[in-house]
Amino acid sequence: MKRHKKPISLEPSRFLAKFAEEIAANSSGLIADIACGYGRNAACLASFGADILCVDNNIEALECICSLASEMKRIHSKPCLSTLNLDLINAPWPFTKESLGAIINIHFFMPNLLDLFLYSLKIGGYLFIETIDGHGGNYLQLPRYGFVKAKLADMVRIIYYSEKKVGPPQSDASTLKLFAQKK
Ligand SMILES: C[S@@+](CC[C@H](N)C(=O)[O-])C[C@H]1O[C@@H](n2cnc3c(N)ncnc32)[C@H](O)[C@@H]1O
Repeated sequence: MKRHKKPISLEPSRFLAKFAEEIAANSSGLIADIACGYGRNAACLASFGADILCVDNNIEALECICSLASEMKRIHSKPCLSTLNLDLINAPWPFTKESLGAIINIHFFMPNLLDLFLYSLKIGGYLFIETIDGHGGNYLQLPRYGFVKAKLADMVRIIYYSEKKVGPPQSDASTLKLFAQKK
């Protein structure tokens, strides 16, 4: 996978920004931002006072988040952002059963993470997924249309869901946005 370069702006996902206050206010326990990049989404949640564990395998990105954490500490009198250097493909999943108040997963989709998310979310915990968009060859990394909904349907209460077919017709790939709560 290509190295994710530092973005020019730390503007969060617009979709996340709509729900960030609700997630921050109502999550019981730690929020994990899975494949957090340079922390634009975690910083948005932390601006509402939530504690976020930022998980990625890009050390440079995690170092930038550590600087952000110092800034957050000044504002909120607590760091709000912590980091975990983890290879999500090869390392064992580090979170125990029902240990997380919310999971954020934006622009990094791996189908086998879905079961792990469900395992580690507390009952009532928020799950927020947004895939990359469908331009160019992105469809190669995107889930099959309907796959995520079918996988999660029995386990979550969907608050918001949108899915769109992308790529060549034979690919059956889709982009999606999901905001849900574990039942
Ligand atoms: C497109 S970026 C999205 C970052 C962030 N979620 C955002 O919305 O700004 C994808 C992220 O996935 C991370 N990533 C890629 N492969 C990974 C792996 N095997 N383990 C952990 N993180 C990985 C990259 O380092 C990068 O930060």
